[in-house]
Amino acid sequence: MNDRKPLIAGNWKMFKTCSEAIATAKQLAHLIRKNQAVDVMIAPPFIALEKVSEAIKDSHLSLGGQNLFWQSEGAYTGEISANMLTSVGCEYVIIGHSERRQYFGESDATVNRKIRAAVDHHLKPILCIGESEKERESKDTFSVLDKQMKTGLKGFSLDDLTSLIIAYEPVWAIGTGKTATADQAQEVHRFLRSMLATSYGNTLANSIRILYGGSVKPDNISELMAMADVDGALVGGASLDPETFSNIVHFEK
Ligand code: 13P
Repeated sequence: MNDRKPLIAGNWKMFKTCSEAIATAKQLAHLIRKNQAVDVMIAPPFIALEKVSEAIKDSHLSLGGQNLFWQSEGAYTGEISANMLTSVGCEYVIIGHSERRQYFGESDATVNRKIRAAVDHHLKPILCIGESEKERESKDTFSVLDKQMKTGLKGFSLDDLTSLIIAYEPVWAIGTGKTATADQAQEVHRFLRSMLATSYGNTLANSIRILYGGSVKPDNISELMAMADVDGALVGGASLDPETFSNIVHFEK
């Protein structure tokens, strides 16, 4: 047993207009109203954040951004800053998602700057890491994750990282219907926690939540959550439908 509170987070990616996001958030808030044992976060598209924030203000649903830029303000067309996210009620921010790395050129170095901005603005960063199918096949999983973690977290002190959350999302399992088995997830999560223990000590390592992401569904969440080092999930497709996502939040213990 550990005292890490599970976190089930929904990454809505580029889905839902503002009105669709409000309706989904309201339904979800209602469906999960009795479950205080799990933290639940949704990350709608930027344009819906403010209205969704109003819609869920009396619920225990939290809000997150899907990305940020590290500058506070300036001539950075198309970007959103950490203080803009907090100003509309965000508590979390997803950083370095594999889709951002793959399609928008994000690197471990830019991820590092983004985490700095999140920490400085009291946003809880959800650092996404994960290996590709090719890297897993060539047995490079651990070295890839080691580099993503070490570069992503370079220069941070123990205090900086108290609100850090890690999401292990193997790229080959995202949106493919192929989930890592619970044992595969546990093997990686244990490795990540031991890396954190080596760099920052056991107290911090034992308090950081490590989420699994990649084709999480109502029928595989319980198995994943039964693993000692799996503290929650970052859910894509299955977070878009309130009933399905609520079934994930209500996983069987
Ligand atoms: P899926 O749950 O659709 O596989 O997406 C996972 C993900 O990328 C969450 O950030």
